[in-house]
Amino acid sequence: MDVIGQAVQLKKAGGSYKGLCPFHNEKTPSFVVSESKQMFYCFGCNAAGDVFEFVQRYYNLDFPEAMEKLALQCGVDTKDAYYKPSDKDELYEINRMAARFFYSSFSRPGNPGAEYMRERGVEQIILKKFGVGYADSEWDSLLKHFVGAGIDVKLLTSLGLVSESKGKHYDKFRDRVMFPIINASGKVIGFGGRALSGAEPKYLNSPESAVFLKKNNLFGLNLTKRDISKENRAVLVEGYMDVISLYQHGVRNTCASLGTALTENQAKLIKRYAASVVLSYDSDAAGQEAASRGADILYGEGVKVRVLSIPSEKDPDEFIKRNGKQEFLNIADKALPYAAYKLGAIRKRHDISDVEDRVDFIKEAVRFLKTLSPVEAETYIKIIAADTKISETAITLEFNGNNAGRGKPARDQAKPEQTEEKGGEPDILEKNLIRLSIISRDYYDRIKPFEHAFASRRGRELFKCVEDNYSHGGELDLKSLKDSLDEEGVKALDEVLENVVFAGKEEQVFIDCIKKVEYIDLVSREKDIVLKLSLADEVENAEQIGALTRELMDVQREIQMRK
Ligand code: CTP
Ligand code: MN
Repeated sequence: MDVIGQAVQLKKAGGSYKGLCPFHNEKTPSFVVSESKQMFYCFGCNAAGDVFEFVQRYYNLDFPEAMEKLALQCGVDTKDAYYKPSDKDELYEINRMAARFFYSSFSRPGNPGAEYMRERGVEQIILKKFGVGYADSEWDSLLKHFVGAGIDVKLLTSLGLVSESKGKHYDKFRDRVMFPIINASGKVIGFGGRALSGAEPKYLNSPESAVFLKKNNLFGLNLTKRDISKENRAVLVEGYMDVISLYQHGVRNTCASLGTALTENQAKLIKRYAASVVLSYDSDAAGQEAASRGADILYGEGVKVRVLSIPSEKDPDEFIKRNGKQEFLNIADKALPYAAYKLGAIRKRHDISDVEDRVDFIKEAVRFLKTLSPVEAETYIKIIAADTKISETAITLEFNGNNAGRGKPARDQAKPEQTEEKGGEPDILEKNLIRLSIISRDYYDRIKPFEHAFASRRGRELFKCVEDNYSHGGELDLKSLKDSLDEEGVKALDEVLENVVFAGKEEQVFIDCIKKVEYIDLVSREKDIVLKLSLADEVENAEQIGALTRELMDVQREIQMRK
C-alpha cells in the first residue's frame, strides 16, 4: 500500500484502493490494490502481482534491485545487498568512467549505436556534446573493464551499471545507445539506455542511487541552463531524443524530465533558470496526460506555463526534423496558457450538445476554475461562455455555489445573519444602534443612513421615536422619549438602557455595528442578484446578465474580504 501509493494516486473504494493504472493509459481507474491480500490487479490490462512485482515493473528493476529498493525504503539494512558509499565523489567518478567507456565503444568504426543515431539524423558534433555512447550486447564488457581496473563490484551495483542475480553479476545495459544524465554541476549521475533491437523496455534508466535522484534532475540542463536563463524560458520535453534534436536544430533552451512524471523539485529546478516554461510533450494520450499533470506542478510552483500541442507529428523531435526551428518557435509562441489548455482538455472530454454532459462539463470546468486566482477565473468564465454558448450566468452560479464535498473546501457560504424572518424584537445589533443613537445626536446622525438595519418591528419603532425626539433640536430628552412609547416600548427601551453598556468604547462599537450592517447588505445584495440572474432570459437579458454577473463577482469578492 505505502509503496504503491507513492507511485499511484489511490483512493479508498470499499475494502480496497483504486487508482489509474501505471502500466497502461487510462482515464477511469481500474487499478485495484488490496491491503489485506497485499496484491495489485488491473482490470484494464490484467497487470497483477505483489509489491515486489510492482516495484520491478514500475521502476524497471530486476528482482534484487526491487528488494534493495524496498529494503532501503523500510530502513532495513540489507548488509551486502546495498553498498552505502562514504564518498559520493567516487561514485561520480565511476559514472564518468562508464560514460567514457560507452563513448569509446560508440566511436569505434561500424558501431551499431552510432549507425542508429546517424540514421536518426543526429550530427557527430551533437553526439559528442551530449556524450552519447553505446553499451554492447555482451553480458560483461563493462563488468570486466571495471573489475580489471580494480573497481569494487558493489559500487557498480549500487550505481545500477551492473546487476546481480543468484550471486552472478552482469552488465545491466546491453545493446543500447547510452545517454549520460549529467546534473547542473556537470557530474554524471546516471544513464538512459535506448534499446537498438526491439528489446523491452525501449528506454532503460539507471535506478536511483546515492548520486541519482530522478525527481531532482532534468536531462540536458548541464548544456542548456545558460540558454534557458538567457531566454528566461525553457522548453520542457519528455525524451532524450527530443532534447538532442531540438538542440541540434538551434532550440537550445530545452531539457527533459526523466521518463517519470514531472516533480515539484524539477519544477523548482527549472524555476531557478527561467520564469516560464513551454511544455512540449508527445502528442499521444500518455504524453498529453503527462503534460497536463506537469503543467499543474509547474503552475503550483509559480512558473508561467504554456502547453504546446504538436499538430501531426508525434513528438518535438519529429516536428523539428520535418519543419525546422522557425516553425517550431512559431507553434511554441502560440502554445496555450495553462488555464486555457486545462479547460480545453476538459472540454474535449465532454459533448456539450448533450444536456447531461454539458452539466458535467461545467461542473468539472468550475472545479478547475476554483484553483485559479479570482481574476483568472472571471476571465475564463467569460471565455468558456463565449466558446460554448453556455451562459456566463450558469457558469458563475455554479462557480459561486457551494459544491459540497467536492474539490477544495468551497469558500464557506456567507451566513445570511437573519436578514429575513426577523421577529418583532430587536436583536443585539439593533439594540447597540439604539443605545448609540440615544447617547448623542452625533451618533444618531451617523446611524440614520443605515436605518434599514432596523429589521424588527420594535427596533424600527424605537428608532422612529428617537428620531422624533431629536427633531425638537438639541440632545435627546429621555423622559419625553419614554412618554412617546407605549408600555411594551418602554420595557424594550429600559432593557436596552440597562443591559447595553459600552464602558467608554462607543466609537469602536459604532464602527463594528456599521461594518456588520454593510456586510448584511452585501449578503442580501448577493441573494438578490442571484435571484435576478436565475429569472433572467439568456437571450433577451444578455446585457443585464453581463452587468449583474460582474456586480455579483464584485459583491462576492467584497464579502470574502470582509470575512
Ligand atoms: N522513457 C523511459 N522509460 C521508458 C519509456 C520512455 O524513461 N520505458 C522516457 C525516455 O526519457 C524517453 C521518453 O520517455 O526519451 C519518451 O518515451 P517514448 O515516447 O516511448 O519514446 P520515443 O520518443 O518514441 O523514443 P524514440 O524517439 O527514441 O523512439
Ligand atoms: Mn520520442
